[in-house]
Amino acid sequence: MKKRQFLKFRLLLPVIGILGGLFCTVGCGTSQNTVETGNLIRSDAPKHNSDYITVGFIQTGKESDWRDANTNDYWDTFTTENGYNLIYVDGNSDSNRQVKAAYDLIAQKVDYLIIDPIVEDGWDDVLTLAQQENIPVIISDRGVNANPSLYECWIGSDFKTEGINAAKWLYSYLEKNGREKENLNIVILEGTAGASAAIGRTEGLLEEISKHSNWNILTSQCANFTQGEGTNVMKQILTDYPHEDIDVVISENDNMMFGAMKAMEQAGMRYGVDTDVITISFDALYEAFELMQEGKLMVSVECNPLIAGLSHQVIQDLEAGKTVDSVYYVEESVFTYENAAEYISDRKY
Ligand code: AHR
Repeated sequence: MKKRQFLKFRLLLPVIGILGGLFCTVGCGTSQNTVETGNLIRSDAPKHNSDYITVGFIQTGKESDWRDANTNDYWDTFTTENGYNLIYVDGNSDSNRQVKAAYDLIAQKVDYLIIDPIVEDGWDDVLTLAQQENIPVIISDRGVNANPSLYECWIGSDFKTEGINAAKWLYSYLEKNGREKENLNIVILEGTAGASAAIGRTEGLLEEISKHSNWNILTSQCANFTQGEGTNVMKQILTDYPHEDIDVVISENDNMMFGAMKAMEQAGMRYGVDTDVITISFDALYEAFELMQEGKLMVSVECNPLIAGLSHQVIQDLEAGKTVDSVYYVEESVFTYENAAEYISDRKY
């Protein structure tokens, strides 16, 4: 994974992972900016001071550059200057750890809980408890499979539409090049099983792909949204299938695509514009724009990680006694090798 400038010092604190799993209360002797028992605490705001809103934020982990941008956005928004005491929990890509953290933060009587869930299932009981304890919950990024009355709102991307947009771009590209009647073999690298980002994108892709009888899914495999697994899974695919059979590679995030590109390069394959392999991914990271400019990546459907501002707004509205919407979608676009140069200087992640 390429580390970019936004990866700030606080994400590099190595003790977070080492001490993972041992959740305890915030009140057990923290000093300023300390990390204890797996929770990273912005402790420069006085505790139990009603001038500050204590927010427990449970993140999925660090599986992608998108995730780092999302985490940094929360740190930059939920500051003491904005009136918050933020408690950050790294889920370490472990959904049980995330649920345990939610119980822990409820026990600490935080004012709000924000959860970026790894997977949709398994949240009912802890959300019910949060409601009983009058702790409002905001679900951020991926969704949960629970009764919406258990949380205030969900803020994130329309993952299914992202999948539809990716497949629609493929058709428009083929049509533009007089290739729409060609038989195509498609390889899909899926995100984490049970994660709404993977579920929605796969659903959207399959819905559109099924409309084209000349499009065939050669294989569709999970690579967990990580670059390393993108390389390993693609390496295996290149062992299992003749290289010349692969016409399109769709990766459900940029990092898995970066990994898959490494595997294709190692196998001596060419991909992207003016080759036999069309490359499509999701997120629209800065590095994806660089690859689109080089013609190696042909399209990246944007998934916007900058959600914290909306979460902040929702909390401010709730504090003011206002009613909030149950769903907020973030704005997103589709970027291609043809327009990447025009937009790269505006990219924030
Ligand atoms: O839930 C959003 C997805 O999770 C992003 O596409 C991916 O990069 C991240 O890890």
